[in-house]
Amino acid sequence: MQDENHEEQLLEAIDYHKLPRHIAIIMDGNGRWAVERGLPRKEGHRQGMETIKEIVRNCNKLHIEVLTLFAFSTENWQRPKWEVNYLMSLPEKYFNSDLPELIEKNIRVKLIGEHEGLPGRVQKAVLDGVEKTKENTGMILNFAMNYGSRSEILQAVNNIIIDVTQNKIKSKIDENIFSNYLYTAGLTDPDLLIRTSGEIRISNFLLWQLAYSEFWFTNVYWPDFKVIHLLEAIFDYQQRKRRFGKIDS
Ligand code: IPE
Ligand code: IPE
Ligand code: MG
Repeated sequence: MQDENHEEQLLEAIDYHKLPRHIAIIMDGNGRWAVERGLPRKEGHRQGMETIKEIVRNCNKLHIEVLTLFAFSTENWQRPKWEVNYLMSLPEKYFNSDLPELIEKNIRVKLIGEHEGLPGRVQKAVLDGVEKTKENTGMILNFAMNYGSRSEILQAVNNIIIDVTQNKIKSKIDENIFSNYLYTAGLTDPDLLIRTSGEIRISNFLLWQLAYSEFWFTNVYWPDFKVIHLLEAIFDYQQRKRRFGKIDS
């Protein structure tokens, strides 16, 4: 009841003309959520997928332009095989159950990361979601899978070298050109980065793109993350003064 009141207050307090255009989330704490309940870690991932559904719905309702979700990092391959296998079974489950709703809600699915490194079934499920929503014009739902920011940056550098050698680029490399070689080409940088589970680090996520993002951390584990936390993050974000190196005028 108290939470309901608080949610209503936040809904009233939020300035809908000053919403973050791009929210990026490091969805962390699935494993600890499960272990603390005496459940296997995979139960945390399963429940985490339910959180994804809820947060996607609510970001869409708020007309957020881009929602980027860190789902699997290039470092996560180092986890036990059973856990990796379970995580790799989730995209198929997610798109089987939610793709019709994404299509219906005009949401466009995008994938960042090295998708060739994902198992065939995962690639098929996600790329099918990308394909079937490619004409949609609403929120971009951007999944970071097999994503690592350092490898993204190195890949950009290598591709730039190729294009310079082939005379496709004749000018100096500026920030704009460089950004266009990243997976996130064409997307606005995240305004707000949320990380759940109490960890205060970036873990190789969007190193270039987060240069001027506002960070919001919570101890809440991802499976427990609810709309109220999303609204709290947005409200806090709106209280910040983004200076971009300038001084207040
Ligand atoms: C986030 O939860 C999901 C992925 C990294 C794939 P974790 O699995 O990292 O959960 P903790 O951090 O071990 O609790
Ligand atoms: C970051 O979480 C990656 C994802 C959420 C997919 P991790 O749990 O892998 O990060 P570390 O290992 O705690 O830094
Ligand atoms: Mg973790």
